Amino acid sequence: MKTISDLGELLGKKVLVRSDFNVPLDKNKNITDDGRIKAALPTLEKLIKQGAKIIILAHLGRPNGQIDTNFSLKPVALRLNKLLPNTKVNFCQNTIGDKPLKQINQLNNGEMILLENVRFDKRETSKDDNQRFALAKEYAKLGQIFVSDGFGVVHRKQASVYDIAKLLPSGAGELIFKEVEALNTAIQNPNRPLAVILGGAKVSDKLGVIANLLNIANKILICGGMSYTFTLAQGGKIGKSLQETDQIDNVKNYINTAQQKQVELITPIDTIAAYEFASNSNKKIVPADNIPDDMEGLDIGPKTQKIFTNTLANCKTIIWNGPAGVFEFDNFAQGTKAIAEALIKAKANGAFTVIGGGDSAAAIRKFGFEDWQFSHISTGGGASLEFLEGKKLPGLEVLS
Ligand code: 3PG
Repeated sequence: MKTISDLGELLGKKVLVRSDFNVPLDKNKNITDDGRIKAALPTLEKLIKQGAKIIILAHLGRPNGQIDTNFSLKPVALRLNKLLPNTKVNFCQNTIGDKPLKQINQLNNGEMILLENVRFDKRETSKDDNQRFALAKEYAKLGQIFVSDGFGVVHRKQASVYDIAKLLPSGAGELIFKEVEALNTAIQNPNRPLAVILGGAKVSDKLGVIANLLNIANKILICGGMSYTFTLAQGGKIGKSLQETDQIDNVKNYINTAQQKQVELITPIDTIAAYEFASNSNKKIVPADNIPDDMEGLDIGPKTQKIFTNTLANCKTIIWNGPAGVFEFDNFAQGTKAIAEALIKAKANGAFTVIGGGDSAAAIRKFGFEDWQFSHISTGGGASLEFLEGKKLPGLEVLS
């Protein structure tokens, strides 16, 4: 994969950068987590230092190909201006055509412009190759070189991610380089034992990941909403907990494959169950395979937390994707927090720890942990999941 260093002299060159600025906003359009913007800075700073004229293409949300100010990138431009106090960050309400071209032609070396949400044009995400390619040609008129740096979106075959890279000399930015390196360190020839913790609501979201990681991991720890389907498949009683009965056969297959491949598959033995899906619901610790009919599991219990913590203490590589419970509710956040703490301890003892983006990354921020306490926190939820599935990601393939 080519990187910025392979793109030659950038002084005065117009460099198009694809970033993932899909950040959460509150109802007043304040950015509530700027992790993805901060993660884009190393590439932008490198290009500023080299005197490039930087043109950023990015998306926010899913506006369905319509102009919708609720999904405007304006708040991101304001935040970028704060994060880069010595650089002028301009904003353009259009993504293609004369207006951005005029503003781009006025940029001095080392200055940048963020263009409006690329997803306001329906061709950006079109399944029709010709439509996407036509839009990519419009982007290509704006710059001379393409730097792909939106790791969170590399699993999408979209005009500003994939097609543009076919039209201009292209390379991966610092973030993509770092993400790929970290995820490869974790799954290609990792220091062992390698443990993978999989949580989150649905087994069906993690089918490909489980299938691939059964070939790679030494231990797989299952928790969160998806664990109840595992308990069900093992003959347990799970009350009104989340369940995907159509996945029971798949889960049974995984359990058998794990045995055959001598992968230790650990499922919860106790559960914190609640009468209602609410933070203040009455709760009870119950055996994971005997949840009362009128209750649902919302977190792993203390015995399971201990088993997870002890297991992770001996691992040299740990990948974590998906929370152990409803961490958004303080009363059901303890299991997820215990896992985060186990990763922090493991890293302090020399393990390589990776958080696979999405909800697990949101959880550690909610608990107030710092990024440096983990070896790598991915900025890609879906992208890192597909990477761990072993899939070929279009936005990466096109760079190699
Ligand atoms: C994400 O938030 O995972 C990325 O920005 C990709 O967004 P998408 O799922 O809307 O393509």
